[in-house]
Amino acid sequence: MPETPPETSPKRVRRLRYAPGKRPRSTPPGGHIPVMLREVLDLIDPTEGGIYVDATLGLGGHSSALLAKAGPEGLLIGMDFDANAILLATEKLKATGNPFRVFQGNFAGLEAAFSESGVDGCDGLLADLGMSSYQVDDPDRGFSYRRDGPLDMRMDPTKGKSAADFLGTVPEKDLVEALATIGNEPDPWGVARILIAARDKEPILRTGQLASLLESHNREWKLSKEKNKWKSHPAIRVFQTLRILVNRELANLEHLLRILPWILKPQGVAVILSFHSGEDRLVKKAFREGLASGIFDSISEHLWRPTFQEKLRNPRARSARLRWARRAKS
Ligand SMILES: C[S@@+](CC[C@H](N)C(=O)[O-])C[C@H]1O[C@@H](n2cnc3c(N)ncnc32)[C@H](O)[C@@H]1O
Repeated sequence: MPETPPETSPKRVRRLRYAPGKRPRSTPPGGHIPVMLREVLDLIDPTEGGIYVDATLGLGGHSSALLAKAGPEGLLIGMDFDANAILLATEKLKATGNPFRVFQGNFAGLEAAFSESGVDGCDGLLADLGMSSYQVDDPDRGFSYRRDGPLDMRMDPTKGKSAADFLGTVPEKDLVEALATIGNEPDPWGVARILIAARDKEPILRTGQLASLLESHNREWKLSKEKNKWKSHPAIRVFQTLRILVNRELANLEHLLRILPWILKPQGVAVILSFHSGEDRLVKKAFREGLASGIFDSISEHLWRPTFQEKLRNPRARSARLRWARRAKS
């Protein structure tokens, strides 16, 4: 999965547990660094009294910075699928002393959050897509191939099918297609064959079980650093594909892109940070179409990437892709 920063110490498997609302131990307090924060703030340019939206609160890194600048007359509306994210982000947002509303749910439902908050448009919106560090750090969430746990991957574990359920029932041809189109897996047929044969013997219920199957399929694999390039672990693309499918991430993004013009005020700016080429294509297409039809008066001409210094400081930023669009005046 070139889109997600490689996890760098596959041998150190630590079992982490944390209570709801507590930070997993491998993301130390203060250790979360919001991706491309300077660029996000420069683009959205929050001002006193403005209304801002963080569609993906996560640990509240971006949203607390936006809210701090919106001041006591401003408002931040935040959403996240994940109940834990809501608790963790709320702590950070409270510390700013400024008004905010948070909603647990899919950002595809932002319009309902707007009407509940009594607002009909925002001056800026951020969506920082994908999973958060606390989700991948917690083995019980089943996002990581290097920490054994239940193969779950749901951002909201109370809804929908887990990755294990999905893998237990998906038809082989659909799995091949998903691995090829979402995961950019070079050998989708081979990988799908291994997984289907394995699930016919016993259900694939653990992340460690799935990672071992994929490692044994690709014995050539080894994690080594050469010329600053990491060889990808053979499970990365499969895990990413399953996560995107389980959480319907592409469909949700498409929905957000469709409603964007109606939730941004004139001259409001939307910033989307994605970590997957398929997501970035959707954003690029929607922004270009919006510019052509006059909904947006300005969009990012090129893909924005983190600086070299940011990538050094924050490995999770390595694969970030930023695009922005500004709503036209009327
Ligand atoms: C990369 S993290 C955001 C990190 C955040 N910007 C920060 O600085 O702490 C992405 C978050 O988006 C959430 N998420 C992903 N897709 C979502 C969706 N469709 N609706 C709501 N939340 C979503 C995930 O649960 C995760 O907490």
